[in-house]
Amino acid sequence: MTVTTAVSPKTPDPVFVDPKQEELILVLDFGGQTAQLIARRVRDQNVFCQLVRHDLTLERIRELNPRGLILSGGPASVYDKGAPQVDPALFQLGIPVLGICYGMHLAWQAFGGVVKPGAKREFGRTSCHVVKDDPLLKGLPSTTTVWMSHGDQADSATKSFVPLMDTPTCPFAAVKHATLPIYGLQFHPEVTHTADGTQLLSNFVKQVCGCHGTWKISSLIEREVTTIRDRVGKSRVICGLSGGVDSSVVAAILYKSIGSQLSCIFVDNGLLRKGEAEKVRDRFQNHFKTDLHVVDASERFLSELDGVTDPQHKRKIIGRVFIEVFRKEAESIQDAHFLAQGTLYPDVIESGANADGPAATIKAHHNVGGLPEELGFELIEPLRDLFKDEVRRMGLELGLTEELVWRHPFPGPGLGVRCLGTLTAERLTKLREADAIVLEELRTAGLYRKIQQAFAVLLPVQSVGVMGDGRTYEEVIAVRAVQTDDFMTADWYPMPHEVLGRISTRIINEVRGVNRVVYDISSKPPSTIEWE
Ligand code: XMP
Repeated sequence: MTVTTAVSPKTPDPVFVDPKQEELILVLDFGGQTAQLIARRVRDQNVFCQLVRHDLTLERIRELNPRGLILSGGPASVYDKGAPQVDPALFQLGIPVLGICYGMHLAWQAFGGVVKPGAKREFGRTSCHVVKDDPLLKGLPSTTTVWMSHGDQADSATKSFVPLMDTPTCPFAAVKHATLPIYGLQFHPEVTHTADGTQLLSNFVKQVCGCHGTWKISSLIEREVTTIRDRVGKSRVICGLSGGVDSSVVAAILYKSIGSQLSCIFVDNGLLRKGEAEKVRDRFQNHFKTDLHVVDASERFLSELDGVTDPQHKRKIIGRVFIEVFRKEAESIQDAHFLAQGTLYPDVIESGANADGPAATIKAHHNVGGLPEELGFELIEPLRDLFKDEVRRMGLELGLTEELVWRHPFPGPGLGVRCLGTLTAERLTKLREADAIVLEELRTAGLYRKIQQAFAVLLPVQSVGVMGDGRTYEEVIAVRAVQTDDFMTADWYPMPHEVLGRISTRIINEVRGVNRVVYDISSKPPSTIEWE
């Protein structure tokens, strides 16, 4: 059968895979939006799992010796011209296979089954019933909720497969090959909406593939350390630090790999939160003892931003000046051929780097603070395949503090997009102080980890107040706190009134020039998390 790449895979090359892993599961990527999520859910079972291109050769698969293969979903229909296919011999390798949605259709088709468009597209939660016992369904209740997202479905029974689960509209919601260790799921076990999805994936890797689940995040660190050492040789590597968890984890991995060959650059743009620069210094100069270059460019940023109020204009200036400052400092570092970045898998998707993927949406402004390719370095991106919580686990393993590892995200343009209106040193100080109070009070109340992002915003309005016997005419701080899974949607946090009260009292008493505090009760959408 011809192998096509009409839907080219997200994963450019399978070289990332380490064949020495004892227990390896491969996810063959057919372009499904949640393909990487499957890999991550398997890793959550302490079994190493990697996303690879769907047209990986059978020789390479044999060489990698996986315990199991998962064929992901994808946007195509198996009968489309040029739809990505698998070599049918893959099903004869003796390696257990789990086909999910499109992946199931491929398996079904490979054994002579027919795949047709369903009566209507099925999208969302549906109730699914177990019709036959099987190790894949161990521990599942007889009826469970699953998440469907498909147009096509397996049609008419084939002798090759037996149904394991069905729904009112889908007779083959879960199937198993009559004699081979090949399974198919019409629904998506990797998404949280599928109530027993984790159990199903765990059953596949442990009950069906026989994995023991002995892999740890530390194995991933070891693997990265070896890869980086081999790649870098005697060269220097530059790592841009932002103060956040991703770049800190990258720097810590690099430090573990190449020690003194690492140079870190931290640009103080004057738009940082209180104590941020000091913390970076403490961590990477005193604790990790790296060659740390702190560039204090705050005056330059402030002068370039002088009088600018338009949010997009601010972002552009901050992005440009950052690159200029970073480039100049990087040029002063001899023998550096590599640049390490904390790109995560969701960034890869969001930046549209995989323009072929259905998930390729972009929020241009999120690239602010990134570095352009023209800097001329080879990139090292050790977190490119990982999700945030995996990076956090790595951070803890590498000895970073809980405080850093669980730090709320902070945008590249920093306080620049939270200080609405003109940016002056005085207004930024006000905002910085108010923000520190918000975070401190949330920590004291034990709420910091319940909220994914919280901060203060300085509004470009003044309001009247009374203090003592006098009238005041001062600025307003808005407090924002949101709960979110992915930052694409977010709910405002129903903050206990006494915490709001303490925050308000402290800001008004302690921050000069602020006489009013308001709480932002808007969710995203239609609002965004940041105000600019
Ligand atoms: P919005 O405001 O779009 O924010 O709902 C979603 C998430 O993205 C962060 N954000 C940024 N991060 N550069 C960044 O690095 C930016 O320009 C930027 N704008 C927003 C925001 O803090 C939130 O976590």
